[in-house]
Amino acid sequence: MSRLITPSSAYPGLRIDGARLSRRIARLAEIGAIEGDGVCRLALSDTDREARNLVCGWMRDLGLSVTIDRIGNVVGIRDGQPELAPVMTGSHIDTVATGGRFDGSLGVLAGLEVIETLNDAGIDTRHPLAVGFFTNEEGARFAPDMLGSGVHQGALDLEEMLAVTDINGCILGAELQRIGYAGDTEVNRLRAHCYVELHVEQGPVLEQEGFAIGAVTGVQGISWSEYRITGTSNHAGTTPMHLRHDAGYLAAAISTEARNLAKTMGGSQVATVGMIRLLPNLVNVIPSEALLTLDLRNTDESLLREAERHMEAFIRQAAAREGVLVSNRKLARFEPVAFDGDMIGLVEQTAERMGLTCRRMPSGAGHDAQMFAPNCPTAMVFVPSRHGISHNVTEYTSPEALAAGANVLLHVLLNRAI
Ligand code: GLV
Ligand code: MN
Ligand code: MN
Repeated sequence: MSRLITPSSAYPGLRIDGARLSRRIARLAEIGAIEGDGVCRLALSDTDREARNLVCGWMRDLGLSVTIDRIGNVVGIRDGQPELAPVMTGSHIDTVATGGRFDGSLGVLAGLEVIETLNDAGIDTRHPLAVGFFTNEEGARFAPDMLGSGVHQGALDLEEMLAVTDINGCILGAELQRIGYAGDTEVNRLRAHCYVELHVEQGPVLEQEGFAIGAVTGVQGISWSEYRITGTSNHAGTTPMHLRHDAGYLAAAISTEARNLAKTMGGSQVATVGMIRLLPNLVNVIPSEALLTLDLRNTDESLLREAERHMEAFIRQAAAREGVLVSNRKLARFEPVAFDGDMIGLVEQTAERMGLTCRRMPSGAGHDAQMFAPNCPTAMVFVPSRHGISHNVTEYTSPEALAAGANVLLHVLLNRAI
């Protein structure tokens, strides 16, 4: 029988060391540092290897046994009773090309901070504690996003994901080998007792409404598509408008329609054309080719399908009118995920017990936690993001807010592990 979930009271005064957490975040952010305090650490790049080595070193220093699986996920385990499933936390250390220093890294390093706090206090837990970082969460180099955690929990196929290529044709499996992180631990085996992930909100809600902590109720559905449009290159000055087959025009029309769609649908629907690449990309030449991505998200699966259908019909009709060819490829498709009610309640009660204001909220961003949700009770803890900015070098959360989130993480993990 599962134990009643009540906020942890075994060590109510125990707190993580916020300065130590911030020091680790700053040290990790040196790897792949870019101008403006940001980080570029694309999955399986040389900088990712360097960051992995650093975090693995910290894990070993803390006495964790470190495993690397076949898709490069790294999990450090602190002993408990060996017959019990681990209570797990984690996130990712890859970033988008223009990333901040908190997205993902916070969840991993807060996990290590929890371990060090327990080590320092001499506290043993019945359940082992596991801290993981998962390959290619961002999807900024290889699609889909949450690739490593998806394989870890059996939602994505290992062989298929090892064969994924980036925009330059580099194969994920080969890149894993190259950086020395093609491990031999089998995937889709570890079933956690529960999974809790701390993350920056990456949106404006907590800051605007003055809450310290978000108890995340779930993650919205994500649909990523790539479109390749083939038109005809011709002279920009001599080709009459009615004779053009302009791939660039269609790319722009798709972007505009995506915005109109989100505006018309309202609610949680968002739509983004984040990448457009034109060929030959010259001032006086009608583009012969456009490659673009479309990101659609909604908390409601049926509305997300409606948005997908609308865009598909629009693109088909607009392409026919312009006389261009369009091929498309699904890069990622995840249905909305609801987190566990008891775990959400535990996050909320733990925060309130510590005197921290807390609000329930859905996540707009994708997270590794969503891959665990079908297999074990899962929840997330959010802390505010300044001005709601993320995937941007100016992403910022104050050291105090980071520490507050890590303390909630500590007591939620303790509650489930002790
Ligand atoms: C991952 O960061 C995503 O939500 O795009
Ligand atoms: Mn993230
Ligand atoms: Mn991100």
